[in-house]
Amino acid sequence: MADWDREYLSTRGISVKLPLRSGFGRTDRVDGWWKGPTAMAAYLGIMIMYSTWRGMMEADFWIFEDFGRSAGYSTMAIESNGSHVLSPLFSPLIIPGQGTFGGPIPEFLWWMSPAMFILIFPAGFRGTCYYYRKAYYRAFFQQPTGCAVSKPWNEYSGETGLLVVQNLHRYFMYIALAYLPILSYDVWLSVNFHDADVHHYGISVGTIVLLINVLMLTGYTVGCHAFRHVIGGGSNDWTGTPMNRMKYRMWKVSTKLNESHKEWALYSLFWVMFTDFYVYACTDPLFGWNDIVIWGGI
Ligand code: FES
Repeated sequence: MADWDREYLSTRGISVKLPLRSGFGRTDRVDGWWKGPTAMAAYLGIMIMYSTWRGMMEADFWIFEDFGRSAGYSTMAIESNGSHVLSPLFSPLIIPGQGTFGGPIPEFLWWMSPAMFILIFPAGFRGTCYYYRKAYYRAFFQQPTGCAVSKPWNEYSGETGLLVVQNLHRYFMYIALAYLPILSYDVWLSVNFHDADVHHYGISVGTIVLLINVLMLTGYTVGCHAFRHVIGGGSNDWTGTPMNRMKYRMWKVSTKLNESHKEWALYSLFWVMFTDFYVYACTDPLFGWNDIVIWGGI
């Protein structure tokens, strides 16, 4: 049937069934359409499992009694060289019952790990991201399985029902912006080395790993569709005032980053997990890694 035939029928309310094979995964496509969604499912699955496992460490769950505070050592931050290299999965550090942030946490929540108090926000930001939605709807929920590939169910109701929570993305974005100065402060802490009472500056491999992490997360967050809209949406004057000119410049930066938002999304996720793994490997005797000081230090 020619395209104009189909268009003519649809304008008269007559639905036209596309010549799609039925049965999950059946298609006339001959290319490797399944490779992308399969690789994405594996990648996201590994990232989710790793962050969940690490997020549950440093807690007093009986099943994790070999790890974390119960085991008497910490894998949240490297302290051995006198500097403080904190894993981004635990920043800002909230230890229930201890310190400034952890103090107000009610005692019945002290079983929670520090990561559990904060990961809800980055997880919410990524979970509602426009790019990730496309990726995991396909990879995990087969909505759709692929273009011109039959999926296991026919219904499609869009982002209604429970999925209206995806509209919270803009608010998660505001919170994600607040994480950038917090993580930048962690980079600053990592260049401050202390012994008994002397203060030195230095740069370790951990500093560089943390710095790359902040830069990657900045690229991901500033290229966010919602951020770009907040900066440039509704503006019809780019030049009238200094503020408008500044907004225009920010909008151009955001647009440039937005063009490769997928890459920022995927690589920044990897680097967050790698940064955490680096801290973990430098603190757990199992790995025997050391955070090498490149310049200065004690
Ligand atoms: S659209 Fe991806 S972070 Fe906002």
